[in-house]
Amino acid sequence: QVKSREVEALMNKHLPKRTTAILHDLGRTGDQLDLTVYAVGGFVRDLLLDIQNMDIDVTVDGDGILFAETFAAQFGCRVKSHQKFGTAVIVFPDGFKIDVASTRLEYYVSPGALPTVERSSLKMDLYRRDFTVNTLAIALNGESFGKLIDYFGAYRDLQSRVIRVLHNLSFVEDPTRVFRAIRFEQRLNFKIAKHTEDLIKNAVKMEFLEKLGGRRLLSELVQILREKEPLKGIGRMASLGLLRFIHPSIELTPAMQGALEETRYVVSWFDLLYLERPYERWSVYFLTLCEGLSEEQFLGTCTRLAVAEHYKERLVEMRKEGERLIAALERKVAGSGKVENSEIYFTLRGLPVEVLLYHMAKSRSAEVKRCISLYFTKLDGMHPQIRGEDLKELGVAPGPLYRELLDLVLSARLNGKAASREDEIRLVREVLGGV
Ligand code: CTP
Repeated sequence: QVKSREVEALMNKHLPKRTTAILHDLGRTGDQLDLTVYAVGGFVRDLLLDIQNMDIDVTVDGDGILFAETFAAQFGCRVKSHQKFGTAVIVFPDGFKIDVASTRLEYYVSPGALPTVERSSLKMDLYRRDFTVNTLAIALNGESFGKLIDYFGAYRDLQSRVIRVLHNLSFVEDPTRVFRAIRFEQRLNFKIAKHTEDLIKNAVKMEFLEKLGGRRLLSELVQILREKEPLKGIGRMASLGLLRFIHPSIELTPAMQGALEETRYVVSWFDLLYLERPYERWSVYFLTLCEGLSEEQFLGTCTRLAVAEHYKERLVEMRKEGERLIAALERKVAGSGKVENSEIYFTLRGLPVEVLLYHMAKSRSAEVKRCISLYFTKLDGMHPQIRGEDLKELGVAPGPLYRELLDLVLSARLNGKAASREDEIRLVREVLGGV
């Protein structure tokens, strides 16, 4: 068994000083109110695994909201509470947050009625959780600070690196746990226990996952695709027969495996460029998974998964537009062998990063891949040096001609035919002279 001293030593080694100090403060507030306070769940799991996790979840044996309010008043924090659930969030002045839950819930069934008090214990509370590795708690009160509480063999499972449910109905109660099991298995490099895997297979066979709404399904899928190594999670989803919940025709064929590996390669390449162009990495994998779907099927899938309306429109529209533009680029490459930088730029401009990366991975043409790569690394950041004001000085009346002239100048710059501001002005003069 792990001793309190060892847990404290882990805290001192792995947590920022401030976090450890806050944990002590939480315990002291508990002492004052005569409430027992624990750090629980993922935070404890990751502390023992030496993984950075700043999401502190606290459970109070008693009234968690009173606890949160008292703590906040003492330390200048704000509190957001949910009476109905007996939960609160303590928000520090710098935005740092701590989630507080109560093992005892008190709620009103109807206005004016006496509160229904549901008593529970820490053990009951932890028993409701998904996997043993998430059921550890650390006591925070003064005397017992650092005491590890392990009711369900969590420490043993952490040591043997196993994801195990607490009871046979876990996936029936909450089918999203099927995806959580995969996510934790891949992220932590654990193994889903045999019996737990059988329960997953059973839940899939009994069609419990059909009950999951699209929104929840998407949220789980996105979390798997956002992991560092999404291919492992996708592989596991495939072997458990879960890809069909995205679309029945999606299968992990050797071709799809190859496409996903190429996607991973392209995404890693892009991330190493540090371009600071925000993008949704999960979408690139999602587009690859859906590459065999027709436009209609893709739209249907996005709708069923409740992809946010504005994002769905963008994804569907840009996927279609991307297909068209990349096909045009492929034809040009096949025809002339060489494409001018300006052609690359004006073809790809406006396509979202996600769609560009998807096509970069998908295209069979090495030259097209080179074009997209060149667009990201060089062309996309280029601008003409002259501006509208310069055109005005040159006597051009404001109007659509401005855009055309600036694009013309940009083309010359992209193709290495205008290196300076003077070159650009000369070019405009030439064009205007010829008008
Ligand atoms: N939980 C659960 N069933 C779910 C979701 C969550 O039992 N469907 C429990 C888990 O035991 C988890 C806790 O609620 O420890 C908090 O959930 P969450 O923040 O999603 O989990 P973390 O373990 O913190 O995971 P992550 O590291 O991915 O944030």
